[in-house]
Amino acid sequence: MANKFYITTPIYYVNASPHIGHSYTNIAADTLARYNRNILGKDNVWFLTGTDEHGQKIKKVADEAGLAPLEFVDKIVVQFKDLWKKLEISNNDFIRTTQDRHVKFVQKALQIVYDKGDIYEGKYEGWYCTPCETFWPLSQINENLCPDCKRLLEKISETNFFFKLSKYQNWLIKYIKDTERNPERIHYIQPAARRNEVLGFLENNKLEDLCISRPVERLSWGIPLPFSPKHVTYVWFDALINYISAVGQFDAQNIYHSDWWDKDVKVVQLVGKDILRHHAVYWPIMLEALGIRQPDTIFAHGWWMFEQDKMSKSRGNVVNPAEVIDKFGIDVYRYFLLRDVPFGLDGNFSQDSIIKRFNGDLANDLGNLIYRTLTMIEKYYAGKIPQVDVYETPYDASGENIKSKIKDLHREVALSLEWGNDFSLALGKIWEVIAITNKYVEEIKPWNLVKEKKDKPLKDFIGLLAEAIRKIGIQIAPFMPKTADSIILQLGGQEIKKDAPLFPRIETKKK
Ligand code: MSP
Repeated sequence: MANKFYITTPIYYVNASPHIGHSYTNIAADTLARYNRNILGKDNVWFLTGTDEHGQKIKKVADEAGLAPLEFVDKIVVQFKDLWKKLEISNNDFIRTTQDRHVKFVQKALQIVYDKGDIYEGKYEGWYCTPCETFWPLSQINENLCPDCKRLLEKISETNFFFKLSKYQNWLIKYIKDTERNPERIHYIQPAARRNEVLGFLENNKLEDLCISRPVERLSWGIPLPFSPKHVTYVWFDALINYISAVGQFDAQNIYHSDWWDKDVKVVQLVGKDILRHHAVYWPIMLEALGIRQPDTIFAHGWWMFEQDKMSKSRGNVVNPAEVIDKFGIDVYRYFLLRDVPFGLDGNFSQDSIIKRFNGDLANDLGNLIYRTLTMIEKYYAGKIPQVDVYETPYDASGENIKSKIKDLHREVALSLEWGNDFSLALGKIWEVIAITNKYVEEIKPWNLVKEKKDKPLKDFIGLLAEAIRKIGIQIAPFMPKTADSIILQLGGQEIKKDAPLFPRIETKKK
């Protein structure tokens, strides 16, 4: 296992306020960052997020708002930063593509690829969708409409610069498929279905070279090409580079150096399924052309729908994360997003489903286990946790089962997270322990042990509950940091510090 870990999220367009989709990736990345910090130490993990601030989309909304693009993005970026603060996202850095460090780096990278001959000048004639900033090949167009947004395409002819994707097509196919000599490469594009999708695309289509410039007269809001001041850089070529511009530099020989995008680091990139092609085709080829290593994993997660409908500004159903957090708390929001759907599949966001998870998993299961245990310690042991060496004490079958499950819990969580990024499965394993421990309380009926003055069995029993909760507290920390802190505060010392129940049930009206 690598001894360092670098995790990235996409950089978000600052053309509108952040919504649940953006917060989803950041919460997932935050969970992995926290998890790895616990294992590798905090100095061995780097977590990058940021904002994508150039391009047509941004220019258009800035124009509509009557502001200069930079003035406009300066305003929106605050909303993203505030949301990450509110969610206690533990990113180490926040990159903005308008920052000098990034702009200079992109120009250097362009120059390197240009000097190498992988960028060339050519005439571009094609059908262009302005809102999507995409040229479409004739073969994909129907009635002059954009295949994506269905708006009218424009015919455009201009001089531009092209990046030789085609030259690298076979290299990329081989790289993805080479799992025999490099078995870990099976994790390169995840989940497996997405890997197949990318391979299928590459094997059945001839890659066309990518137009990576825009003439200044059509779009001024971008990074000028160092070798042609009449052009700015296509926003995706600019944006993808953030992952390396934030953490390293080229030396005089054009060799890239970084503490994080480096060979002894596990590099994991989380993206939404809609931007997989950019990350699994353009980005690997850009890296290869620059002589820079590939990431270990590019993981494409699914999309959140709202009440079964696609979330969009025009539908007016965009979920504002801040409102949900104010209502339920950070940890409930995190728990819901990570638990309700396996990472990689689409989810449905609704108030009812959060309340269901809240009252079930959090109030009835976790909250209840902690509260009843603390109450017993208070009542039977004057608030002092009985000292029991649980692992040396024999229990009945159910007690032994709990013991072996809590011993194994860290391994189960590790297996679910390490390559699969299966947050839902990991939480499921933790909740399995919560469920069998709650069940054990019903089975043992400790109040009878008290009545019958069975001191030793009672002590062993309470000791086991306390140990199970301690283990649960440790394992949920990356997912629900505040809850873990509260568990450790209440049950971490010799004496308990009982607080109000963690997740008081939410009453719902009977339908
Ligand atoms: N700026 C580009 C990314 C450049 S990365 C070098 C971009 N930005 S975005 O703001 O439009 O989208 C950012 C991310 O949010 C994408 O990963 C996208 O999948 C994700 N989501 C947007 N809406 C979403 C949902 N409704 N649900 C889940 N994720 C969604 O694309």
